[in-house]
Amino acid sequence: MQMNAIDFEKYELLQDEVCAQRIVAAKQKLGKRTVILAHHYQRADVYQHADLTGDSLKLSYLAAQTDADYLVFCGVHFMAEVADILSSSEQVVILPDLSAGCSMADMANLAKVERAWRELAEVIDPDALITPVTYINSSADLKAFCGEHGGIVCTSSNATKILQWSFAQREKVLFFPDQHLGRWSGHQMGLSLEEMPVWDFDEPMGGLTPEQIDKAKILLWKGHCSVHQMFQPQHILRFRNQHPDGLVISHPECSFEVCKASDFVGSTEYIINTIREAEPGTRWLVGTELNLVGRIAEEFKSQGKMIQFMSPMVCMCSTMARIDPQHLAWSLENLVDGRVVNQIKVPEREAKLARLALEKMLAVSK
Ligand code: 13P
Ligand code: SF4
Repeated sequence: MQMNAIDFEKYELLQDEVCAQRIVAAKQKLGKRTVILAHHYQRADVYQHADLTGDSLKLSYLAAQTDADYLVFCGVHFMAEVADILSSSEQVVILPDLSAGCSMADMANLAKVERAWRELAEVIDPDALITPVTYINSSADLKAFCGEHGGIVCTSSNATKILQWSFAQREKVLFFPDQHLGRWSGHQMGLSLEEMPVWDFDEPMGGLTPEQIDKAKILLWKGHCSVHQMFQPQHILRFRNQHPDGLVISHPECSFEVCKASDFVGSTEYIINTIREAEPGTRWLVGTELNLVGRIAEEFKSQGKMIQFMSPMVCMCSTMARIDPQHLAWSLENLVDGRVVNQIKVPEREAKLARLALEKMLAVSK
């Protein structure tokens, strides 16, 4: 049963500390029937309540493995959809605030991808020659599109492996929605920039000539993350001038120039593990979301590691931050009363096809 807005209004003005106590109490009452999953970008006052944490790939495995009845997902909409698709049909996935979306995921939609496929069919046979690859940061219907067309899903921690698999199937890839992850991963495989033109979905034929399409190995959808685009090569240059021994690590959603100027590039889980395993006394510049960087700066201080945020600006995933203690308390206390609010349920036909593409990814990335 869905609660109405008036019910949430009672939580809106609750202080964070009060919410924290009520979340702990609700969790105790719910016991093992409920599990809270949180992405690494989640704000500290929510992350502290998580039973399971991870990057998108790890959270996908965890969601597929848990036998809890209720999965309360503290992340963004596409992550909750993945949890629903990979969990059993009896399990219920809850996103405490439905407006927690991903602006990058919104840069591609089914109508535009289908149009691209139709336009490509004027030049080549896409079903014979192109593997569609969607970054996990995309809606379930795009994952279903990939499932239906022999394609696959990737995350930031397995993109190169997934591209290798994709090229073993067909000679080209249509990669959406993040051009930066696609470009960096293609570059890691030795592809040139000319072999990876951008598909501008607002232009007829993606703004490309038939010759460009013919020569392309990866067609990069013109999408990006508004958080990661804030990091600039000059931030790295300034850091290196100040700290010649310092190390730079970035998320592959950063621009090609930032990735190239970094010492290490990888997913949120990779970033945490790399710094955790580094020598005590090392200094790091980190190009990813602020909540995560602030958390590890604090956590690894005791190991003598100095961790600096890459941008002078505040770069936060403001949509993920919509999952606040008030919404978490609201959804958990409703569950205690036997009410499910904000359930994420992917329609069965779509879920079936999306599951194909997701399970292929999980198998390939093992
Ligand atoms: P990860 O796969 O590293 O968790 O990244 C997901 C994401 O949305 C980064 O912006
Ligand atoms: Fe989406 Fe960017 Fe937020 Fe990641 S950081 S969830 S890509 S908006």
